[in-house]
Amino acid sequence: MVMAKPIRKAVFPVAGLGTRFLPATKAVPKEMLTIVDKPVIQYVVDEARDAGIEFFIFVTGRNKEVIEDHFDVQFELEHTLRQRGKLDALRALRRDLPKAGHMSFTRQQQPLGLGHAVLCASELVGNEPFALLLPDMIMKSERGCLSEMMSVYEKREGNVVALEEVPMEMTHKYGIVQPGTVRDDSIEITGMIEKPDPGTAPSNLILSGRYILQPEIFSYLKEQEPGSGNEIQLTDAMISLSNEQDFSGYHFRGKTYDCGSKSGFILANMAFGMERDDIAPNVVDAIEKIVGEYKQHNAKS
Ligand code: G1P
Repeated sequence: MVMAKPIRKAVFPVAGLGTRFLPATKAVPKEMLTIVDKPVIQYVVDEARDAGIEFFIFVTGRNKEVIEDHFDVQFELEHTLRQRGKLDALRALRRDLPKAGHMSFTRQQQPLGLGHAVLCASELVGNEPFALLLPDMIMKSERGCLSEMMSVYEKREGNVVALEEVPMEMTHKYGIVQPGTVRDDSIEITGMIEKPDPGTAPSNLILSGRYILQPEIFSYLKEQEPGSGNEIQLTDAMISLSNEQDFSGYHFRGKTYDCGSKSGFILANMAFGMERDDIAPNVVDAIEKIVGEYKQHNAKS
C-alpha cells in the first residue's frame, strides 16, 4: 500500500480586515478577539497541532503584528508569573506556543481574495501537501475536525475538504459542493461552485473552512482569474484541480461556530464558557434570566 505523504504544514489566512466587527477591530485583528479567554486564532492553531501539524504558516496583512506577538515568548510576563508563583498560568502560556522556528509569517500585500492569500504561502509550503484552516470557523468535536480529516486523507490521499449542511437559503454565502457517491468515510465530490446565486446551489453542503490540499493547487492559483466578488477564489482553483485529482468531502458532524459573524461569535463564547467549571455555574442562572426577559419582552411587542 502506498503511504499518503504526511501533512506537516498548515496555512492560516489571517489578512482579512474584519470590517464586520468594527469598531472592535479598528486596532485589534479579528483573529485576536477572544472566545472566553483565548483568542480565536489560538483555537484553530490548537486544532492543527492536535492533528499532528508541525509548521504553522500565517498569511497576515497590515495591523496584524499582534498575532505574531501572541505566538512569541513574553519574557517579562513569564518572569512576573514565575515570581508570583503562578505556575499554572505560565505552563498554559508555554503550552500554547509552537516550537521555535516552526512558525512563518508572510504578508498578503493586497486584499485580492482567499485564493490569492493561499498563493502567498506557496513558497513557504513548497512541494508538499498541506492543511488550510480558515480561522473564522471554530469547529468543536471530540477529536477535532482536521484530525478526523487526516484519517480520510491517509486512506484516500488526494485532496480532502470539510463539509457541513446549511439551510438552502444560506447557500449563496459559501462555496458549495455537488456530492457524488457516499462512501463509508467520505463523500465523493463531483462539482463545486463558489457562492452560487440564490436558488441555484447543487446541494446544501458547504465548504466549511478546513482543507487538505495537494501542492498542485498553487499552479492553478497562479493563473486564476477573479471570480465571485471579483476576488481570486480558492474554490475556482480547486474546480480546475479536481479535473486531475480526487477530492473527498468529509462531512463534519461536530459543531461549527462562524466567528466571522457576531451571532456565531457570541454563541461560541456561550458554548465554550459552558464547558468551564470556573464559569458555567456562575453564569447559567443569569443567562436563563436574560433569555427569559428577552422572550417576555418580545411576546409583548
Ligand atoms: C470562504 C470560501 C468559501 C467557504 C467559506 C467558509 O468564503 O471562499 O468557499 O465556504 O470561506 O467560511 P468567505 O467566508 O471568505 O467569503
